[in-house]
Amino acid sequence: MKILTLETSCDETAAAVVTDTLDVLGSVVASQDDLHRRFGGVVPEIASRAHVERIMPVVDEALRQAGVSLDDLDAVAVVNTPGLAGSLLVGLVAAKTLCAAKNLPLIAVNHLQAHVYACRMASGREVFPCVGLVASGGHTNLYRCAGPLEFELLGATIDDAAGEAFDKVAAMLGLPYPGGPAIAEAARGGNRRAYALPRALVQDEDRFDFSFSGLKTAVRYQLVGPGKSDFGDVRLSPRQLADLAASFEEAVVDCLVAKAFLCLRRTGLTTLCVGGGVAANRRLRERLEAESQREGITLYVALPLLCTDNAVMGAIAVERFRAGRFENLDLDIVPGVVRTSS
Ligand code: KG4
Ligand code: ZN
Repeated sequence: MKILTLETSCDETAAAVVTDTLDVLGSVVASQDDLHRRFGGVVPEIASRAHVERIMPVVDEALRQAGVSLDDLDAVAVVNTPGLAGSLLVGLVAAKTLCAAKNLPLIAVNHLQAHVYACRMASGREVFPCVGLVASGGHTNLYRCAGPLEFELLGATIDDAAGEAFDKVAAMLGLPYPGGPAIAEAARGGNRRAYALPRALVQDEDRFDFSFSGLKTAVRYQLVGPGKSDFGDVRLSPRQLADLAASFEEAVVDCLVAKAFLCLRRTGLTTLCVGGGVAANRRLRERLEAESQREGITLYVALPLLCTDNAVMGAIAVERFRAGRFENLDLDIVPGVVRTSS
């Protein structure tokens, strides 16, 4: 069985061909980072226009890599939630068109569940039941995942997402977009304890939520002081930059690790799956590994290439195919997060 999976939820145009045995026959990701860099973040209108131009060439290339034609496919899967409305629409319309033209079943993919499923792709074995942590540019969510189709949202950020905090702090520090890799690079050799930055909600053991906006503001106050917003005059020495970047990175990592392990303790689950762009962060991976060893937890972190947005993680569609969960051609996009979903 071969499924074409499409991903256009934010600023990556991606397509992959995957099999029911989770082999990846082809995978293409066309990044738009270059288009958004000068704005310091994703501009939705630019993203959707770029998707329109790129989606069919990306599909063609994925099929070519896989050595298959549309006639060899058994289904088309597409991310329809959550994401930017204009971006999601491009993928959905492309998927519906292919399904209508080739009389193929349509499968809906939840982008956040797919980020968790990215862990299944590399593990080569079952990863469910597990606690799923998704830390990306748009979301920071914790799930109880009873199975690949049973996700229960346990906690989420109440303001900025972890990746968004990386991107915004990077902009303050004069580092390029996307901010995560830029901050990680700047933090090399920095002193993680040089600046005392807040870890919001970490002491609150009654909730699994995150908050990163206070941390962002705390970094800002280190740079310009309350009430000022002009970062143009800020001059940091290389050491100060490394120390501030490392202190910020450590604060985000502390929050993610603390809540993920709180979730594990409270649910009694012993497997942790971590995905989303921030999961590519080396310090986070190190800390998760150390903590998992200490606590006897089986840890799966998505391969770095499958942390940031891609269509391979859309292989979660194989699970829906097996369960016979297909959609009609009136399937719509759902840009916002639905608190519980399955
Ligand atoms: O999952 P993703 O590709 O897109 C969304 O679904 O949002 O995540 C993108 C986010 C960006 O905010 C980016 O700065 C962050 O992931 N990111 C990282 C790293 N690589 C990407 N954050 C921290 N460390 C990294 N190495
Ligand atoms: Zn994502």
